[in-house]
Amino acid sequence: MVTIRHETREDIDGIRAVNEAAFDTNAEAQLVDNLRQSNANVISLVAEQDQQIVGHILFTRVTIEPDNSSFNALALAPLSVLPQYQNQAIGSALVRKGLQIAQKAGYSNVIVLGHPAYYKRFGFVPAEKYQIHCPYQVPPETFMVKPLIPNALDDITGMVLYHPLFSNM
Ligand SMILES: CC(C)(COP(=O)(O)OP(=O)(O)OC[C@H]1O[C@@H](n2cnc3c(N)ncnc32)[C@H](O)[C@@H]1OP(=O)(O)O)[C@@H](O)C(=O)NCCC(=O)NCCS
Repeated sequence: MVTIRHETREDIDGIRAVNEAAFDTNAEAQLVDNLRQSNANVISLVAEQDQQIVGHILFTRVTIEPDNSSFNALALAPLSVLPQYQNQAIGSALVRKGLQIAQKAGYSNVIVLGHPAYYKRFGFVPAEKYQIHCPYQVPPETFMVKPLIPNALDDITGMVLYHPLFSNM
């Protein structure tokens, strides 16, 4: 039985281990640690099973250039599940819980850079549908957004800006 809950201080090593195992390099694990140290983590959830951290999801603030205070948005990144626990709906549970918490907290949008086939099941749509642009050179369909309130992006135009630590990736 998997439990999804907020990160605590005791989870830090487990989160690092999950990110190191899920990704090809330690870059994501280091990014998560650096973001935490910079107090950039807005929502950080873990999936716990049998007293082990088996999954992790992080949401940090993004802004837009030119600045627009109506763009009250989070970026979902990274998301990771230990290889031996993948394809058991743990990633999905982390995404759904995170989106629910973000919506309750009053955020209007969540941005993600990832696999369209995976994220569209949660209601993410290509951001190119709107007037918001990705700061990185990526295939356009991989930059997605999920509005959490109706018409959240109607009057928003510009370049989405991630926390500067993402630029080191
Ligand atoms: C991506 C990841 C978090 C998904 O977690 P998970 O617990 O395995 O996912 P779920 O069990 O909720 O969902 C499984 C579905 O995701 C799909 N999926 C898994 N990894 C995928 C990927 N990299 N690209 C596209 N689809 C993927 C599976 O094919 C499966 O599809 P189906 O439901 O149509 O059969 C996990 O595979 C992982 O940690 N991967 C390595 C790190 C990574 O790439 N993170 C994502 C960065 S965008």
